[in-house]
Amino acid sequence: MVTWSNHIVKMYEYGLAEDKRDAAEAAAAEFVDYLRDVAKQRANSPGEDIVSDLLRSELTEDELVATAVLLLMAGHEATVNVIGNGVNALLTHRDQWERLVASPDLLDPCVEELIRFDAPLQLFERTATTDVEIAGFRVAEGEKIGALLGAAARDPKVFDRPDTLDIGRTPNAHLGFGMGIHYCVGAPLARVEIAAALSSLASKLPGLELAETPERRPEFVIRGLRSLRVTTA
Ligand code: HEM
Repeated sequence: MVTWSNHIVKMYEYGLAEDKRDAAEAAAAEFVDYLRDVAKQRANSPGEDIVSDLLRSELTEDELVATAVLLLMAGHEATVNVIGNGVNALLTHRDQWERLVASPDLLDPCVEELIRFDAPLQLFERTATTDVEIAGFRVAEGEKIGALLGAAARDPKVFDRPDTLDIGRTPNAHLGFGMGIHYCVGAPLARVEIAAALSSLASKLPGLELAETPERRPEFVIRGLRSLRVTTA
């Protein structure tokens, strides 16, 4: 499932090579087939899982499958990258890692700061459904605009010392989970997952260090590391 998700989200990127687009389409088709089977099984024998819950709603089969795909993909991609980007940021700003190890009460602001400091999702688009003016700019019906979340996260008008990693930063009005009606439905889960990962690492492996400089994946929209090799002192 992770492999399907990793292939599918490449669709969000610009200038996607044909082989990657084909792999994304093939993965999407396999994922949908798999979920249709799961939906059939759960219809016959419901369990305590999200597909069974969705079946109890009034969604059509297509809507149910699309919702399950969205939840599973959104749930897989960004959180993993916050943990990778975030641990990298902490270990390359050793004072902040040591601050976290010494003060577990900084866990919650630390999660927010890691999402802000190295944003896992860089771009979301909107298409104007009517002519509109936003902040003095006219956007005609049908035109697209892109919100650059990584740039917003370093806006000096919003953040004091925006390029500084400060795990105690409060307030921290980042837009990492979006805003308005499409605000991330998984934000509470993501916060718990990231906090649990950081808490385990900081309490069990306080001597954690990078074993090598990690390599970033080349994609722009979904920003993350190819791998993060670590060692303990
Ligand atoms: C740190 C991790 C995460 C980040 C940074 C993140 C970020 C975002 C952002 C920026 C949006 C708004 C998209 C837009 O405005 O077009 C969004 C929407 C969404 N997210 Fe997350 N997300 C994360 C984790 C999750 C998880 C764990 C789930 C599910 C289990 C999830 C499910 C969704 C869904 C379903 C939407 C669409 C909501 C809608 O359109 O009404 N996300 N997320």
